[in-house]
Formats: sequence, structure tokens, C-alpha cells
Amino acid sequence: MPVALITGASRGLGRAIAYALADRGWSLVADARREHDLIEALHDLPDVVAIAGDVTNPAHRAQLVAAVERRGRLDVLINNASSLGPSPLPPLVEYELGDLRRVYETNVLAPLALSQLLVSPLRSSAGVIINVSSDAAVEAYQGWGGYGSSKAALDQLTAVLGAEETGLRCYAFDPGDMRTDMHQQAFPGEDISDRPEPGTVIPALLRLIDERPASGRYRAADLTVQSPMEVNS
Ligand SMILES: NC(=O)c1ccc[n+]([C@@H]2O[C@H](COP(=O)([O-])OP(=O)(O)OC[C@H]3O[C@@H](n4cnc5c(N)ncnc54)[C@H](OP(=O)(O)O)[C@@H]3O)[C@@H](O)[C@H]2O)c1
Repeated sequence: MPVALITGASRGLGRAIAYALADRGWSLVADARREHDLIEALHDLPDVVAIAGDVTNPAHRAQLVAAVERRGRLDVLINNASSLGPSPLPPLVEYELGDLRRVYETNVLAPLALSQLLVSPLRSSAGVIINVSSDAAVEAYQGWGGYGSSKAALDQLTAVLGAEETGLRCYAFDPGDMRTDMHQQAFPGEDISDRPEPGTVIPALLRLIDERPASGRYRAADLTVQSPMEVNS
């Protein structure tokens, strides 16, 4: 049975991915910081080890690795947990560097750390790393300099990992806007009910896992209408 590790699986996109893979009979290791929310979110899935903790904490990452080792394999690592940073989003000239450091710890260093710790089982399964990115990595929106630059760094880490780990597939996956807590945090007080539910991008993400196109950056919107080869050319 294939095994996936999904970070940030208690709500939003991470939870939708957990349900989609569980539906296919996958075995899961999943985390989020708030234990009650995590257990509540995943309790009806048949084969999931849910471990509460913060991806920036090395001891917690070691727990995730130990859970993967007990499963005996890892097919897909999905670095989905992410920090938006302060809300409302501050302009760069006012950005507290301590806040920015925490954004980078969550969005850049933790995904790399998990990739380093888990590269061995991923190599054994010719596995996949999916780092969840954002259009803010490539567009210059006012207020998005902290989060956006962290996702740009994540994109580049993903690209170089893909070049170095030729036996793996390494994807930066840009889901587009989704109606989630993080999106509401980014637009405090605004009505975000016109944004699509996170479940709408699951078919695009599953295409990466099923079809294994070349390592690279993929937008969900492109994957739903084009073949991965067309997207990457
Ligand atoms: N929503 C959008 O419009 C949008 C657009 C582009 C990209 N994205 C990306 O999509 C991914 C999912 O975002 P989302 O909108 O689904 O967010 P969300 O609804 O806020 O969910 C975030 C999940 O990550 C967990 N989490 C946050 N920080 C964590 C940490 N340090 N350690 C462990 N778990 C942590 C949260 O649980 P706890 O709070 O309990 O830890 C929660 O389960 C992120 O990478 C985000 O950057 C989102």
C-alpha cells in the first residue's frame, strides 16, 4: 500500500489531499499543530497516523520520520503546511524581521528539512515530493513580499532538488486561490465565498502523482485543461 506524509492536514487543502489519497487506499502520516483539530479532521479515515506538532520543530519532524519508518516506505511527501505571516499583510518596509524569519522557517526550511530526512525512503520508491507553492511566488502583489518570497525560495529549492534527485519527481504545485482559513487571513473581513473549495484542485494534484511529468513548477489551473507535457513546454 502506498504511503504519503502530508503536513498541515487538519483543514483546507491538506485535509482535502488526505481524504483523496485515503479514498484510493493509501496509508497516511499527517500533522498539524492543533491536536484536537487534527484528530477531528481525520478520525474517520481508515489508515492514518496523526501526529500533532509544528513542522519547524526538529523533534516533531523526527516523530514524523519515525512514523514513516514504521510504515516501511514513503511514496509521496507533501509539504503543505504554511505560514502566511502577519495579518493584515504588512508592506516589506514595515515587515518585522522576526515575523519574516518564522515564515521562512515554516515555508522554506521545514520542507527542505523533511526532504533531507526522508530522501532515502523516497529514493527507494522512486517517489514524489510536492511542495505547495503560490502565485505570490511569481507575482509582485502589495503586502505579499514575506510570504511570496518564501514561496519563491521554496520553488527554487524544489527546482534544484529536481535537478539533483533525478530518481525522484519534485513538484512545486501552485493551487490558485482557495476558500480556506489562510485565504481569509489574507483578506480579513472580506467575503471570500466566491473562491473555489480546496477539493477543486485535487484532480490536478492527483495528475502529478499518477502521470509523473518532469520535475518542475505546475499550476493547478493548467493541469486541469492541458497535458503535463504541454504545461511544462
Ligand atoms: N488558500 C489559498 O488561497 C492558497 C493559495 C495559494 C497557495 N496556498 C497554499 O496552500 C497550502 C495550504 O493552505 P490552506 O489555504 O489550505 O491553509 P489552511 O486552511 O490555513 O490550513 C493550513 C494547515 O496547515 C497547518 N499548519 C500551519 N502551520 C503549521 C506548522 N507550522 N506545522 C504544522 N502544521 C501547520 C494548519 O493546522 P494548525 O494551524 O493546527 O497547525 C492547517 O492544517 C499552503 O502551502 C498555502 O501556502 C493556499
